[in-house]
Amino acid sequence: MNSAGIAIRSLGPVAATEITGIDLAQPLDEQTFAEIETAFNQSGVIAIRDQKITPAQQIAFSQRFGEIEVNYNSGKYGLPEHPEIYRISNITKDQKPIGSRRTGENWHSDMIYSARPPRATMPHAIEVPELHGLMLGDTAFANTSAAYDALPESMKLHIDGMEGIFDFASRTRSEAPDAATVKRYPPVQHPIARTHPFTGRKCLYMNRDDCTGIAGMPREDAEALIVALSDHVIKPEFVYRHKWREGDVVIWDNCTMQHKAILDYDLPQRRLMHRMTIAGSVPV
Ligand SMILES: [Fe+2]
Repeated sequence: MNSAGIAIRSLGPVAATEITGIDLAQPLDEQTFAEIETAFNQSGVIAIRDQKITPAQQIAFSQRFGEIEVNYNSGKYGLPEHPEIYRISNITKDQKPIGSRRTGENWHSDMIYSARPPRATMPHAIEVPELHGLMLGDTAFANTSAAYDALPESMKLHIDGMEGIFDFASRTRSEAPDAATVKRYPPVQHPIARTHPFTGRKCLYMNRDDCTGIAGMPREDAEALIVALSDHVIKPEFVYRHKWREGDVVIWDNCTMQHKAILDYDLPQRRLMHRMTIAGSVPV
C-alpha cells in the first residue's frame, strides 16, 4: 500500500493487477495516476474495484490515458447523453436491446483491423450477472508478451519483420456493419511481433479470426503460421480470467492482451457494462 492508501496487487501469474483504495469520483493527482498507468503498462490488465462513478467521471478518467475513440455503432448502443460510452448488455428496453449483446466471443484484440488500433479498453461494470451466488460473464485475457517471450528463438527469428494482414470485411460479425463502416476500415498490415509503445516489450499481435494472411507469404504457409501462433497465445499459462464485481473499472491494453467474452448467462441474469475505448498508435 502506498502513502495515499492505494493498494496494487497482482491477481495471478499472468500479471493482472487489482487496485483498491481509490475513488475515481475524486480528482486524481499526477503521482497517483502515474502509479496506475505504470501498473497498466506493465501488467496489461488492471481492475480498479468498487467504483461508483458517473459517465462524465468515467470519460474524464479515460482521457488521462489518451484520446477517446468512438465506436462505429455508438449511434445504436452509445449512451444517449454520452455517445463515447458504449453499452455492452443483454438488457432490453421496449423490446429493443440497449447494448451490444453477443460481442467478442472469440479471442481478439479490439479493432486490430484498424490502421491505428486502440491503446486501451475500459468497461465499468454496472450490473454483473449471477446465478445463486455464482458470478457469470467473466472475461478471459491472454498475455501476448508472455506468449512471445515463451517462443523458441528460432520462431522469434522466423517472424521478425513479418506483417499480418487484417481485413475488417473478411469476417462475419453478429451485426453486419454498413457499407460506410466497411469503407472506413480497408485491409491493413501490422507487425506480428509488435513492439509495445510504452514498455518496448514484444507482443504477439494476431489472432485466428482477424489475421487473414501474412504479407508476401503463400496462403497455406501463412495459414499454418497464423493458426500455430494464435493458439500459442491462448495457452492456459498465458491466460487470466477476470471475475467481475459490480463497480469494477477494468482497463486492458490491446497490445499486451487479447480477450474473449464468456457467454454463460442469459436473462433474467442481467449484464450491463459502460465501455470506453482509448485511441492508440500505429503498431511498429
Ligand atoms: Fe473486445
